[in-house]
Amino acid sequence: MSTVVVTGAVSGIGRGIALGAAARGRHVALLDIDERALEDAAAAILDAGAASALPLVCDVSDEHEVDAAFGAIVDRMPVISGVVANAGIEVSEPLADASVESWERVMAVNLRGTFLTSRAAVGYWRDQRSGGSLVCISSPSAFVGFAGGGNTAYGASKGGISAFVRAAALDAAPDGVRVNAVVPGATDTDILYFGLEGEALSARRAELEDAAKRQIPLGRMARPEEIADAVLWLLSEESAYVTGTHLVCDGGLLAKSANTF
Ligand SMILES: NC(=O)c1ccc[n+]([C@@H]2O[C@H](COP(=O)([O-])OP(=O)(O)OC[C@H]3O[C@@H](n4cnc5c(N)ncnc54)[C@H](O)[C@@H]3O)[C@@H](O)[C@H]2O)c1
Repeated sequence: MSTVVVTGAVSGIGRGIALGAAARGRHVALLDIDERALEDAAAAILDAGAASALPLVCDVSDEHEVDAAFGAIVDRMPVISGVVANAGIEVSEPLADASVESWERVMAVNLRGTFLTSRAAVGYWRDQRSGGSLVCISSPSAFVGFAGGGNTAYGASKGGISAFVRAAALDAAPDGVRVNAVVPGATDTDILYFGLEGEALSARRAELEDAAKRQIPLGRMARPEEIADAVLWLLSEESAYVTGTHLVCDGGLLAKSANTF
């Protein structure tokens, strides 16, 4: 059995992908900045059926940490067949008030993190001559503005990831490596709750569920495991002829215009 590497693996969509890979009996390397949660996540991945689990503290925005994490995986796990550049953050600030610090942090984690993770993966597969599948995580905000606003840095980072995926797929194809993006719609994970707790968290959840009912054609947010299923298909041989493209998994959001004409 081969190894699947997931960044941002302790929470939300990344955790769903890691659990899905575990249920398929794979070896799973979990990379995340959240050191405290990593051991628990690794235990859950083993419970779910993973052949083995390797938790690694890694800030994906740091070149040396990403390269060191891949070095540790190569030393300690079987051949890597799939990598998911999933780690991401969101900061919501209207443009006129947006800070340079927020812009740079969002770009560093989302865009540079995707680049560094992808570079390590594609370089490994070129050297191994084994082929592989890389999945990056984009967003509807790569294609449309969010009506709620405050989304310039996040949208720009995800637009960058979508362009990156097309270019990376061309570079990697001669080595038998596929590169694709999944576009999750609103998915019920911590990123939507901005660290809220208690009543504020309940109120935000109720607001999101109501908005989903009204605005998403399928009438609800996605569950992380539904996004994970799309990613796992792109990691599998069932998608062997798919590269350089996007798998939109958004309940119909991008298919819809608010225009009622
Ligand atoms: N939830 C949604 O509605 C939604 C929609 C579209 C795209 N996405 C994207 O899906 C991906 C996963 O997000 P999620 O919704 O599961 O959110 P989440 O907040 O539940 O999970 C993000 C994970 O990334 C980790 N992380 C953050 N910064 C990191 C860093 N510098 N290095 C390593 N790990 C880091 C966090 O610790 C966490 O485990 C992100 O790229 C996000 O932009 C989410």
